[in-house]
Amino acid sequence: MTDLDHRARDILCRNDRGGYTVPTHGLYPFQWNWDSAFVALGFAGFDRDRAWQELETLVSAQWADGMIPHIVFHQHDEGYFPGPGVWATGQTPPTSGITQPPVLATVVRRLWEEEGADPAHPRMRALYRACLASHRWFHTYRDPLGNGLAMVTHNWETGRDNSSEWDEALARVDTSGVGSYQRRDTGHVDAAMRPKQSEYDRYVAILQFGRDCGWDHRRIADEGPFRMIDVGTSMILLRANRDLLILAEAIGDAPAAAELRARIALSEQGMDWLWNEEVGAYCSRDATTGASSALVTNASFLAFYAGVGTPARHARLIAALARIEAGTRFLLPSLEAGSRDYDHRRYWRGPIWLVVSYMVALGLAEHGEAAWSERLRRDSARLIEAAGFYESFSPETGEGSGGGDFSWTAAMWLAWCG
Ligand code: DGY
Repeated sequence: MTDLDHRARDILCRNDRGGYTVPTHGLYPFQWNWDSAFVALGFAGFDRDRAWQELETLVSAQWADGMIPHIVFHQHDEGYFPGPGVWATGQTPPTSGITQPPVLATVVRRLWEEEGADPAHPRMRALYRACLASHRWFHTYRDPLGNGLAMVTHNWETGRDNSSEWDEALARVDTSGVGSYQRRDTGHVDAAMRPKQSEYDRYVAILQFGRDCGWDHRRIADEGPFRMIDVGTSMILLRANRDLLILAEAIGDAPAAAELRARIALSEQGMDWLWNEEVGAYCSRDATTGASSALVTNASFLAFYAGVGTPARHARLIAALARIEAGTRFLLPSLEAGSRDYDHRRYWRGPIWLVVSYMVALGLAEHGEAAWSERLRRDSARLIEAAGFYESFSPETGEGSGGGDFSWTAAMWLAWCG
């Protein structure tokens, strides 16, 4: 084991709060949904039981309607805003009222296969049921266009919080009733690496809309102030449906398998709507106005991970990757340099996020693009070697940004790039 292997394990163990892992000390002091799924991949290499437990603790907070919340507030911590009192979801344990990209089923499948793919595996079977309920929640509440894509009702649900993709939709959000509040994030990390205040007000206004309608997910989906078809969540859900189908078939759950096959077919066709021919990439679209973001982000390349696209479209995506590579030192930036409001240090407007790079690299390898996949892996390793286990990294300088000793970055080192 190398020194970095030791450090990565140590980060996961130090961020362990007993059955779940905080993304980083201070900035994110609770359990986050997709963070935990990636963290399980990190634990899987040295503590199988702890890997499964991370996922089980997450789904213990699943809502009766099937939603797996984006934050679970297992313990009290004044250092984070918006805390459980602001969300006021009435759940036990307290949670936020929104979800996050559903990578869970994909991770469950991987852990289960690594252990021999026994259809009777009890921990897989319990998590299978949780994933099925969560995917049905997406299909029921988050497919307003009926085309198999995933709508998000808060930019925090995408995990790519301040991506420029959301700017136009956010500009329409009324912030007049937000009132005063105190941000905590900028007390932990440099404000230049975080969303701007005007954006944050909009995030809070969207939260308040959900809270004011009692977290009625139907109403939020129909009438909410933010309704985006997110290319990232849509691609991740499609991949997760494919992985869940493998589990359904193994278990012999024929009705669920048929349902999942139908969803997969619908989504494969639906993705056409996200393809922007002019840009040559899959881009998020506004569900209300139909406008394409026309932006190439790291999520655009999740098409490979989702198994979507014709050879001609793949060629255009690879051309976009080559163009991005020519304009920066490290892959894969969250936003193409030169795009509106690109900023190599500001969160999802440029910095590299290794979990997205990992998913993209996996998809590229599965589509015969081994050299590109390896390039992403190597760049990711170099970033950690030079800067440490940061939340994100500048694609221009390689410097770390956001929180340090970050759980999912450590997990990516252990499970993928190290
Ligand atoms: C935050 O607080 O910035 C989180 O990303 C929300 O999930």
